[in-house]
Amino acid sequence: MTFLLQGCIMFGQNFAYNSFVPGELWKDNKGTHINAHGGGILFKNDTYFWFGEHKGSTNNAQVGVKVYSSKDLYNWKDEGVALSVSKDPDSEITAGSVMERPKVVFNEKTGKYVMWFHLELKGQGYEAARTGVAVSEHVTGPYQYLKSFRPNAGLWPENFKEDWRQPKPGLDSLRWHSDPWHEALKKGYFVRRDFEKGQMARDMTVFVDDDGTAYHIHSSEENQTLHISELTDDYLDFTGKYVRVQPDGQNEAPAIFKYQDTYYMITSDLTGWRPNAARSFKADSVLGPWKPLGNPVRGTEEDKKRTFSSQSTFILPVQGKNGAFIFMADRWRPEDPIDGRYIWLPVHFEEGKPVLKWYDEWDLDFFDQKENE
Ligand code: DGJ
Repeated sequence: MTFLLQGCIMFGQNFAYNSFVPGELWKDNKGTHINAHGGGILFKNDTYFWFGEHKGSTNNAQVGVKVYSSKDLYNWKDEGVALSVSKDPDSEITAGSVMERPKVVFNEKTGKYVMWFHLELKGQGYEAARTGVAVSEHVTGPYQYLKSFRPNAGLWPENFKEDWRQPKPGLDSLRWHSDPWHEALKKGYFVRRDFEKGQMARDMTVFVDDDGTAYHIHSSEENQTLHISELTDDYLDFTGKYVRVQPDGQNEAPAIFKYQDTYYMITSDLTGWRPNAARSFKADSVLGPWKPLGNPVRGTEEDKKRTFSSQSTFILPVQGKNGAFIFMADRWRPEDPIDGRYIWLPVHFEEGKPVLKWYDEWDLDFFDQKENE
């Protein structure tokens, strides 16, 4: 690992990073491995803020959502806990709940920071499948928890056929993953099942478009189909406008970015904490239609099958560099979650497709060389 020796105690230790080393321990200003898993980054006030799940010896939340700040993307200062778990055992975000994949966006109209995250209620495994929202006046928090819910209750997706909006008796007994089950799923079986109580919301991200409209993208329908929903002007709720993407596609871990008027998305397959092959898509509008572009990974067969042993969480536009995006992913360690590692890799473009290649070590000069190609 390369350190730039600085001879000063800038970060509470006498070195600073000047490169990314995917998969290695990544220490903060206090010398502690960064604890911000399933994270996302907001750029504000000339600073990057990295929000992510604090993990300990288990995957459930005992602390809450952590936040770190950085000017250069290599060196991160621990800014504390942005959203704390609650000490109240009756709170939805009490210690022991599951708070995953937090994403923070800034609302220009209200001047507030809004955090969305996947919430599972304590003691219920992954049954609740809710999305949670919190808000703050200050980027590093403290964030005030507002509510959680299953989105779009009582509403049909925009791209849902009229004929599918009726009850279809007899589907309850279909064997999971049988051919008729896949067929029924594509034709909206789970959407109908969850119509009244709201659609399931698990792995998620939030994307703000250039016109300020924000979208919540999440795995729904028992993780078999992605839903993309428009958020209200204040980003604190859903407008009710939503679409299904890749019905029966089994996509998790969505990460979205926009480049030259095209939207790109990278997702994973559905294998719990175990790594699998990533997928990529593109669209002319956030609400789709999304066209599959295949596995974005270039490398060995093992790299392709396991996405460098990682799962996507966010794609970060690098400030001041046109066409510069960083693929952020987690190398989960379910047997010791706090030791989970971060895989950050530059996004290449090949024939209009985002492509990922492995680097043992790299730095932001990569994007300048790319510009000169
Ligand atoms: C895969 C998801 O991407 C993670 O965020 C987490 O929910 C695990 N599944 C839980 O098994």
